[in-house]
Amino acid sequence: MIIAVDGPAASGKGTLAAGLARHYRLPHLDTGLLYRAVGRAIAGREDSADFEAAAIAAARALDAAHLTDLAVLTSAETGVLASKVAVIAEVRAALFAFQREFALQPGGAVLDGRDIGTKICPDADVKLFIQADSKARMERRAKQLEERGLIVDRYVLYHQIEERDSRDMLNPHGGFYKAADAHLLDTTLLGIEAALRAAIEIVDRDMALKAGG
Ligand code: C5P
Repeated sequence: MIIAVDGPAASGKGTLAAGLARHYRLPHLDTGLLYRAVGRAIAGREDSADFEAAAIAAARALDAAHLTDLAVLTSAETGVLASKVAVIAEVRAALFAFQREFALQPGGAVLDGRDIGTKICPDADVKLFIQADSKARMERRAKQLEERGLIVDRYVLYHQIEERDSRDMLNPHGGFYKAADAHLLDTTLLGIEAALRAAIEIVDRDMALKAGG
């Protein structure tokens, strides 16, 4: 079973995808980490002439070992860098095979990102599109960072999330919209447990329908 979980920055899609993976005992790939690792590899070079070439080379050289430094990869600054490399078509193409291979492993997988249901796994068994309003998303991300002992400026964080949202929405090579066959789950007013229960209900219902029909 392949489960695709998409949604904007800090919508809760990563937490939900991890919860679904635990529940169904499936491996989980947070595809944002791939773009974050590429963004990190070219940090400080965003304004240089070789920015695109360096990002493409970093994407082509990426392997699982580059995805382990979560403290650096999950920072808000790395998120902004990730959205800058994510607009480069060759970067997306270089990361495609890694994601596709992960999805097609025996038994299936849960992948979360922006274009899983539209581009990476249009054939997923169940697709979820997670949504939450931007203030709720900022507050959740602020709490996550504070739990790690970081000091958070909510004004700056809000604008980082907005900057990423607009770059992502305009990404000409993206596919950052809800697939026609994805279920919309708005988590603005839901806690983690309630959101996970709702997601599991959707997956169970879809799988029962598939088995029956
Ligand atoms: O999901 P996360 O917030 O970690 O993603 C960081 C950035 O990576 C996104 O803002 C987006 O620009 C890019 N991304 C992408 N496609 C994905 C996952 C992430 O372009 N499947």
